[in-house]
Amino acid sequence: MTSTTTPQPISVVVLISGSGSNLQAIIDATLNNELPISISAVISNRHDAKGLQRAQNANIETRIVDHKDFPDRDVFDAELKLCIDSFSPDLVVLAGFMRILTKDFVEHYSGRMLNIHPALLPNFPGLNTHERALESGVEQHGASVHFVTTEVDGGPIVLQANVDVLDNDDADILAARVLEKEHLIYPLAIKWYAEGRLTFKDNQLLLDDSPLPATGINYADDKANN
Ligand code: GRF
Repeated sequence: MTSTTTPQPISVVVLISGSGSNLQAIIDATLNNELPISISAVISNRHDAKGLQRAQNANIETRIVDHKDFPDRDVFDAELKLCIDSFSPDLVVLAGFMRILTKDFVEHYSGRMLNIHPALLPNFPGLNTHERALESGVEQHGASVHFVTTEVDGGPIVLQANVDVLDNDDADILAARVLEKEHLIYPLAIKWYAEGRLTFKDNQLLLDDSPLPATGINYADDKANN
């Protein structure tokens, strides 16, 4: 007789500032048993973040740590860290969390904090990525999941998905098409992490014990589906 053990779900805290559509994709994948995680809490820096309602609808604990209540970035990040750590997460997921983070904060979560960025990094770090992609005339745009390091949007890339830039695109149309891809790649990268397949340690990014290329895995590649 053989016995199989189901891996324990890892504990995840998700940080949001806005709509939370990526959070929703992660919640949905979890409810569909596609993701071996338990979302311990959703934390927002904004009271009016729509994603808080999404979390409450899924019976997930929510917290608000409003950056406006703190005198500076260091004090805010210290409070945010206390709030996150009260849930003892294995992984912190930034899902549209619109704050620049301090070095201390980022280093505290080194190798266990992911972000999603709406561009094919290293192109277009920072804000207004869709406008900038259109202005620059690129034919391909997309989204990237990466580990967070002290360089803003500069951490090692895990997974990317491309979209074609079309003649009639404006920033909103392009953003919507990119967001659809975000909802596919973020749960997948989190799944790899939760299964212990994805690690970032000692400056080395590994998937299944192999180093990843500089732009990570592309969602269109076979590897993304294995
Ligand atoms: C996404 O485009 C994400 O890449 C960026 O912020 C947006 C958040 O959207 N970091 P949502 O709140 O998940 O709907």
